[in-house]
Amino acid sequence: MNTQPIILDTDPGVDDALAIMLALGSSELNVMGICTVSGNVPLNTGTRNAQGLLQLLDCPEIPVFAGADLPLKRDPVFATEVHGESGMGQAVLPEPSRDVKGDAVEFLVQTLSDQPGEITIIAVGPLTNLALVEQRQPGTLQKAKQVIVMGGAIAETGNSTPVAEFNFYADPHAAHTVVHSGAALLIVPLDATRQVKLSETDIENQIAPMKTVASQFVVDAVQNVFALYRQLGREPIVYLHDPLAVGAAIAPELLRAETLYIDIETTGDLTLGQVVTDRRGLPSPYRLGTPVDCAMHVNTEAFLSLFLKRIF
Ligand code: BDR
Ligand code: CA
Repeated sequence: MNTQPIILDTDPGVDDALAIMLALGSSELNVMGICTVSGNVPLNTGTRNAQGLLQLLDCPEIPVFAGADLPLKRDPVFATEVHGESGMGQAVLPEPSRDVKGDAVEFLVQTLSDQPGEITIIAVGPLTNLALVEQRQPGTLQKAKQVIVMGGAIAETGNSTPVAEFNFYADPHAAHTVVHSGAALLIVPLDATRQVKLSETDIENQIAPMKTVASQFVVDAVQNVFALYRQLGREPIVYLHDPLAVGAAIAPELLRAETLYIDIETTGDLTLGQVVTDRRGLPSPYRLGTPVDCAMHVNTEAFLSLFLKRIF
């Protein structure tokens, strides 16, 4: 089997941790490195989470590269109410045994330039690092075989604001740069990721009984998310936003994409980070935005089964 080299760009984050576990548990993928970015938690916290998780999973040799600690232009926003102050819910990770390997933007520029057409980037945090790659060396993202991005809300409501999804809201200018980069882009928006979730019962019945270090980590990590849902008067669930973006690299047939003309709002007070989709069906001079493949449909059952098999 051919193994796809990937670089994960992430803001760890509970579902980011699950995405890392899925990537490491999948022989179709070769994780060349993990790049971190400010997002769910501040950069240093997220970087330590990536290192600690690799330690816990017995993969300390996978290099971690630290990236942007601030969005391009806007003030930073975090999602600690969802992921907990540490970003890992109630889970406690071991001390990392290796240092950070280097700078994420430099690593991305270098690797994509050295191996044009070969690397898949899976970006599951704010897109600041990827935008900085384009600023440093324009055209570099086009050298990726594919750039899979978890972000945005197309027909769905947002999760950070009524219209904006967290990763695009946290750095809308970066999302704008990446969407217009001309890279081979696949966006995996909330429209797709809200089709894949685990309930508290799923965790209790299918993960807790394994009683391994990794399964206990998952049980502890998701508790914060469950508590938040309870507080909102909703059934406790955890969405597998970021794992689905990894799933798109492992088994692309599980997702069905539509090519949509989109743009990203970078100035609106109420609409910052919104994906604006032109569905008017007008010919090119009148059309807004740029054509991007957006995953809108998921084979939910097949993905959940793959996820649960692979993460342990
Ligand atoms: C995205 O926002 C973050 O909180 C998650 O890790 C995911 O990448 C979902 O909107
Ligand atoms: Ca994330």
